[in-house]
Amino acid sequence: MKKTAAGMVLLVALAATGFGQGADQQAPALAGGGALQPQRPGIYHRGWIDLDKNGVKDVYEDPAQPIDARVDDLLRRMTPAERIGQLWQRKMGADSVAQDAALLAAGGLGSYLGAAPDAGRRNQLQRAAVEDSRLGIPLIFGFDTIHGFRTIFPIPLALSCAWDPALVERVDAAAAAESAAAGVDWVFAPMVDIARDPRWGRIAEGFGEDPWLGGQMAAAAVRGFQGGNLADPGHVVACLKHFVGYGAAEGGRDYNSTEIGRFTLRNVYLPPFQAGVAAGAGTLMSAFNSLDSVPASANRFTLTDVLRGQWHFSGFVVSDWAAVEELVDHGYAADKAQAAVMALGAGVDMEMVSDCYRSGLPALLASGRVQDSAVDAAVRRILRVKFAKGLFDEPYSRPVTPAAAAAAALAREAAARACVLLKNDGASLPLRDGGTVALIGPLAADRHDLLGCWFGLGRDEDVVTLRDGLAAELPGTKLLVARGCGLTDSDTTGFAEAVAAARQADAVVLAVGEPAAWSGEHNSRSDLGLPGVQQALFDAVAATGRPIVAVLFAGRPLAVPSVLARAAAVLMAWHPGMEGGPGIADVLTGKTDPSGRLTTTLPASVGQLPVYYDHLATGRPFIEYKDGPTAPSRPFGFGLTYTRFAYGPTRLSAERLQSGAITVTATIANVGARAGTEVAQLYLHAAACSFGARPIRELKGFQRVTLQPGETREVVFTLTARDLGCWTPGGQWQAEPGRYESVIAPDAASGRMTGFTLEP
Ligand code: BGC
Repeated sequence: MKKTAAGMVLLVALAATGFGQGADQQAPALAGGGALQPQRPGIYHRGWIDLDKNGVKDVYEDPAQPIDARVDDLLRRMTPAERIGQLWQRKMGADSVAQDAALLAAGGLGSYLGAAPDAGRRNQLQRAAVEDSRLGIPLIFGFDTIHGFRTIFPIPLALSCAWDPALVERVDAAAAAESAAAGVDWVFAPMVDIARDPRWGRIAEGFGEDPWLGGQMAAAAVRGFQGGNLADPGHVVACLKHFVGYGAAEGGRDYNSTEIGRFTLRNVYLPPFQAGVAAGAGTLMSAFNSLDSVPASANRFTLTDVLRGQWHFSGFVVSDWAAVEELVDHGYAADKAQAAVMALGAGVDMEMVSDCYRSGLPALLASGRVQDSAVDAAVRRILRVKFAKGLFDEPYSRPVTPAAAAAAALAREAAARACVLLKNDGASLPLRDGGTVALIGPLAADRHDLLGCWFGLGRDEDVVTLRDGLAAELPGTKLLVARGCGLTDSDTTGFAEAVAAARQADAVVLAVGEPAAWSGEHNSRSDLGLPGVQQALFDAVAATGRPIVAVLFAGRPLAVPSVLARAAAVLMAWHPGMEGGPGIADVLTGKTDPSGRLTTTLPASVGQLPVYYDHLATGRPFIEYKDGPTAPSRPFGFGLTYTRFAYGPTRLSAERLQSGAITVTATIANVGARAGTEVAQLYLHAAACSFGARPIRELKGFQRVTLQPGETREVVFTLTARDLGCWTPGGQWQAEPGRYESVIAPDAASGRMTGFTLEP
């Protein structure tokens, strides 16, 4: 290894600060990185450090060469140990710099996770990998930026309720910028698992129950995180997770097994991943669960046959945390060596945390149980992403401060748009300024629980509470605040104060729901009501006869039929993030009209689960439960506004479709007294399908329409034969000739279908 003198000077400066402050203090902000000039002729690197390893610009070191040529050149130079090293990801900790020095110098590691918040440490580790190792292969640093990094946005489930992929894209672009500025190259998001059982706490992290809508959101998230060019320093590599079926955990118990038939797998669980792959996602994470008795992280059918064979995914697959070693716990692999054989053979390129590859592959290669070509294929895929991300050319991250104010404004907008108005009797909402409002409940002035699960580097002190949000928007209103009770305990001593406040008020806003720690990973529930004594608090306040506006905070759909029956208005606010208070206040006061729609069915009871709109028909009339409601509390797609919309009948441009297209039209009128935004939803039903029976309704499109009072608009969708198809169990997209029906409706339970024929 030979370094140039100029390079050495800069390396010393970096070593002294851990962050290159000596060298790059004057460096332009990341966005202006293009302004950097080569330091002297012959130095290929466009930045501030000379990284060539032998005084010669080798092909892999030359940014002007195509990525595949660089990968080939580098791979040729790598020893088996260096190749195996690329396949391992460790957790970054306070002692990583000292502990991993020899490992990094030997080229024995490919990646760290948990890179944030320490960009300085990140750069120190990167320096060890790049400058102390023989070939100088950079590490890639990953982090769980799930709904924001430092600025925390609504949970993904909430965000999906805005039915606006462009909003998802903007939010994830902002999250990417903050992540990248802190040294994160790669985020473990979006989670695109379809979830139909709200007992599963990770329903919070996804985009709901619908495969088509999930695909739209997945693609938007990938665009937001990755931007147009992965090497753009303000963007990060996305990771579609968890492949696949994780959301179907039996009983909603996290990590539990799943049984999913091929037709359902193809048409429900795979589509969002496929959309994310088509949008160019750089990586994908293999899941913890077993799928039909084969663990997802050893599933060659999904990871290789489908993902690479049919979808032509060219990025790399990382396992979920220790999921390779857990093949032993699953009772699938006999030991760690066999786990390595199975996972690598299935198509898992990088092993997160556990070390089956590192400990097992040397002997497995020597004995011929694993072929060199299998390791090379995985290394190649990882290197390709590292080159595409520009890590060979800009391995170090630089301190920049993203625009915090813009992110906060976006977080407020997103929090408002995520709200779904479930009920509004007697126009209880919007609240008018003046008089007295009692703001009651454990979430009235709570900060932490508004952040929700996976809150990155979000801080409680940055959360704006509902109390502060309302006080700012209702300056002429006397606000009486009473906590009433805690979120989960059984202490009722605060009830008296809450009831007294309600009695003095013209209206009550009751802020109730779930703690942040009850959703997300490892958090399942067996009951979907209000935790602790919150229902009793609701009952006590309701007994005063004051009209209640219930604001529900949760990481999942709740089953709260009594709240829905007895409150005058109910607003589902989810876990809304840092600007939750102002965002919700904007909706409660009508500054922002509610326009969110449910992306999951709202169950009436746990006994109904799983409950989702696009179920199959049965051979006999749908049976009713003897002891409780059969219909859910609110259907998929549901959400009220402060005005009312009337739909005319769905009309078709033709009764037959062959080639060409058919248009589906409906007239929507704003028949209320305020402006409002409707989300017109297009549903399809295939009357007969020989590959597998199709759901009673499938979402195929939507349009957002903002109408003034009295205004009418025609909403038009176009369907081609292709739009009518489904995935066969073998993975072909097929639209069978026959009878179809469609409807434009405000939610999955409304409207009358009208039919047409697809001719051969
Ligand atoms: C989770 C993943 C996450 C990973 C890294 C796992 O336990 O299932 O979603 O990305 O940890 O933190």
